[in-house]
Amino acid sequence: MHILITGGAGFLGQRLARQLLHHPQVKRLTLADVMTLPNFQNTADQAANQAANQATDQATIVSRQVDLTNAKAVKALITPDITAVYHLAAVVSSQAEAKFDLGVAVNADGTRNLLEAIRHQATGAQLIFASSLAVFGGELPDVITDKTAVTPQSSYGTQKAIAELWVNDYTRKGFINGVVLRLPTVVVRPGKPNAAASSFASSIIREPLNGQAAICPVDTRLPLWLASPETVTANLVHALSLSNYNFEANRTINLPGLTLTVQAMVESLVRVSGQSTADFIQYEPEESISRIVASWPSQFEVNRAIALGFTRDRSFEDIIHAFIKDNLT
Ligand SMILES: NC(=O)c1ccc[n+]([C@@H]2O[C@H](COP(=O)([O-])OP(=O)(O)OC[C@H]3O[C@@H](n4cnc5c(N)ncnc54)[C@H](O)[C@@H]3O)[C@@H](O)[C@H]2O)c1
Repeated sequence: MHILITGGAGFLGQRLARQLLHHPQVKRLTLADVMTLPNFQNTADQAANQAANQATDQATIVSRQVDLTNAKAVKALITPDITAVYHLAAVVSSQAEAKFDLGVAVNADGTRNLLEAIRHQATGAQLIFASSLAVFGGELPDVITDKTAVTPQSSYGTQKAIAELWVNDYTRKGFINGVVLRLPTVVVRPGKPNAAASSFASSIIREPLNGQAAICPVDTRLPLWLASPETVTANLVHALSLSNYNFEANRTINLPGLTLTVQAMVESLVRVSGQSTADFIQYEPEESISRIVASWPSQFEVNRAIALGFTRDRSFEDIIHAFIKDNLT
């Protein structure tokens, strides 16, 4: 299989690439991003990488610097041998809210460029699209299912909802073989805060564990729908095996997660690392972030996802322990 990952330089793109490198059916991986890709950025690196991979039987990795808003460049990226595309490239929530035109250009128009290129140059290829619970907002039922209508209350959520509809329709037409995975908020992200409105959910755990102050900008009673980077990455990989599954009318799946209030997250941190760690959190409500995050739902019924083989984390404490093991020891 030749697999393309858009947003290949991003947080999930890099993790997914590391997993797919060892997937028995994956022979070639192309990572595309508007940013320069770490590790594989020049031809010399790529040649060395290919030689090493032939020796170890890993997939070959090629990186391409491509801006999805450039339809011509996207056309050149898609080759007929591509069997599956993970579409992860996006302008994330707070940035898409602050920069409306950029969000529309990348999240909506960029997705359309990609779908058109696959339609014409790799017809019927599998497309796994990373969507978000931000497609929901406003007055919602107590529990969200795969059939709940989308009612986004942010530009990011609206752009994701538009893209979801296209994935469904391009699939109905036989242009692609698409599936939409709505990801929970991914915590604990290593590294620095990003431009997602949910970035604080990682910061309030990560920074205190590093002995640094973190700001919690939302009411601690706010419930969130969460999954670890490991679980989300494993679920992205699992989606590859569903290429022949008959989704019938609805190709959109809410991925499994855990529901926790911010308060419950902090209590887990206290149990894992003590009150002195949690004391690094400062509570400073910020309206712009609270408004976006509070519009997102936190209770999902995910029976279909579980029946299809997607998994969820066991507990938030497990998520914190995994973060410590992978990043702090
Ligand atoms: N991490 C989460 O909590 C979460 C939750 C729900 C959905 N998602 C979705 O999952 C996907 C991956 O998320 P992530 O956390 O890895 O985000 P990320 O910001 O780390 O990665 C996104 C990547 O997209 C790239 N990109 C942006 N504009 C581009 C363009 N014009 N052309 C090509 N590449 C471009 C960025 O350079 C970046 O590397 C995104 O689509 C995001 O909306 C993430």
